[in-house]
Amino acid sequence: MCGIIGYLGYRDAYPIIINGLKKLEYRGYDSSGIALFYKDGYSLCKTKGRVNELEKKIYSNNIKISGTIGIGHTRWATHGVPNDLNAHPHVSNSNKLIMIHNGIIENYHAIKIVLLKNGFTFKSKTDTEVFINFIEYIKKENKSSLEEAVRISLNEIIGAYSIVVIDKSHPETIIIAKLGSPLALGINDKEFFIASDTIPFVNYTKNVIYLKDGEMAILRKGKELDLRKIINNHKLNPIIKKLKINLKQIEKGEYKYFMLKEIHEQPKTILDTLRGRLLIPKGIICIDGIESNKNIFINAKSITIVACGTSWHASLIGEYLLEELASIPVEVEYASEFRYRNPIINKKNIIIVISQSGETADTLAALKLAKKKGAFVFGICNVVGSSIARNVDAGAYTHAGPEIGVASTKSFTAQITILILLALKIGKYRSSINDNRYKCLCQELGLISEKVYHTLKKDDSIKKISKVYHNVNNFLYLGRGINFPVALEGALKLKEISYIHAEGYPAAEIKHGPIALIDENMPVVIIATKKGCYNKIIGNIQEIKARKGKIIAIVNEGDIQVSTLADHVIKIPNSSEELSPLITVIPLQLLAYQIAYIRGENVDQPRNLAKSVTVE
Ligand code: AGP
Ligand code: GLU
Repeated sequence: MCGIIGYLGYRDAYPIIINGLKKLEYRGYDSSGIALFYKDGYSLCKTKGRVNELEKKIYSNNIKISGTIGIGHTRWATHGVPNDLNAHPHVSNSNKLIMIHNGIIENYHAIKIVLLKNGFTFKSKTDTEVFINFIEYIKKENKSSLEEAVRISLNEIIGAYSIVVIDKSHPETIIIAKLGSPLALGINDKEFFIASDTIPFVNYTKNVIYLKDGEMAILRKGKELDLRKIINNHKLNPIIKKLKINLKQIEKGEYKYFMLKEIHEQPKTILDTLRGRLLIPKGIICIDGIESNKNIFINAKSITIVACGTSWHASLIGEYLLEELASIPVEVEYASEFRYRNPIINKKNIIIVISQSGETADTLAALKLAKKKGAFVFGICNVVGSSIARNVDAGAYTHAGPEIGVASTKSFTAQITILILLALKIGKYRSSINDNRYKCLCQELGLISEKVYHTLKKDDSIKKISKVYHNVNNFLYLGRGINFPVALEGALKLKEISYIHAEGYPAAEIKHGPIALIDENMPVVIIATKKGCYNKIIGNIQEIKARKGKIIAIVNEGDIQVSTLADHVIKIPNSSEELSPLITVIPLQLLAYQIAYIRGENVDQPRNLAKSVTVE
């Protein structure tokens, strides 16, 4: 969580930092701060609230904004409530050292006790303020350079971090380091850009170095980068990569919110995910990561998929697809649970990790655990070059483009698209799918984006339904089979951005408890497409109607039976069951968006959340 940014070069640092913070706000937005360094001093400004509050404070307090060196932070609090004092940057007791930090210092309490005994005092409740004072303490005790003090202290720290440290009397040297949290370094002739992701500096440079865990770098104005291993100070050769981001992808365009833009992008992003991978006329699926490991997948006895949140919902759909089409038993696990037990896995196991950001701390830790136990790890990520993508044995990018809205939408359908390709490809290798079914599914997949486009046109009718229900306190979402995870995803979308309590259930399961909640105030969204248990779903609808629940049904075009029973219907195109989640999720995304919008919520930046969960 949290976004960090820094600049060291010859340009005006302020616009780079403030605009960079706005682009990083999706990572955390409960407080923000900035420090700028110029010839005869420095300015520091921080505040509770979003970056526009920070801008207001800078102008109303007449804060000096000159200088060609600066750092900025937008926070997602872990230690200490969001307020001005806990906001970053944090300054050491001597008022000399300044730090911004993304992550958690797990042993901060023990370190704080040592520092308190040595006369240090603290203004904030954060682990970060302890961290910067620890560096100061080590520097003083060992009479070492800042660079050495940072290195020694990092070897004592337990937790996760990406940090930027500056001595305000020598701001032309900046020290950065990373363990567990992301850090990208943009470089040009005579300038450095530091950020949690590449978006803030992509229009200045396309040359990027992704710091690896356990690395630190010393950036000196006008000089070459000095990259080191934290553990032993060995010098490393930086690997410079070329960025391929199209700037239009990170602008809202005609849309009020990124989330709405991203929902509407799905016909295109699904095609982008398929591009070069599905050759329809020949019925060929190309996925390098599978082809080069063909035997591993042919001989697989089981697969475990590990993920969090929306990616976990996509994993449940993956379970259905891989079992159905590739005949492999699949387990799906929450990454946060998987990593803290002793999963029975070894080198015969395949683990698939799914993550939009490729930075989710629990998923990354689960990946590392699986690798340690010798398993083969396959990754499905959206962010190119992310930590998860760099650590897997093989993988496939979803290519959905940058997803800025905190609530995942297009990355979900991109993940499902990859999972369909995977299941078909492995099914073909294992001869568990007959040629005709394989061909039909490939053909249908090639045309699916048209159906998604058609479904998006239902937005107006969904707006009308949203007006009726935007004030309720609870929602139920029901689905069966492959559409049960879609119900979970619909409920998650609604609660994330509208703060209405919502639960997803397998439709038949409501009899075992949740039916007690049904009354005339309970809207129930039910996925009732023709394929898969349609008649059973009708029974479930009857049960809800008998208890006066309100039914919002997602049905196929031409449906009569459910349509006559439901209070509201949203009609979507027909599809085979395996591909149906790509379509059924669209009205649920739109419903969540419209309800949150009518309630006046900030759809892209819901309270308490952040896009990339880089803390446990
Ligand atoms: C989705 O809307 C959420 N914001 C969240 O559940 C997310 O899917 C989860 O944090 C996992 O993120 P990842 O895919 O980047 O690993
Ligand atoms: N632990 C730090 C804090 O609470 C940084 C949190 C973050 O990474 O967002 O301020």
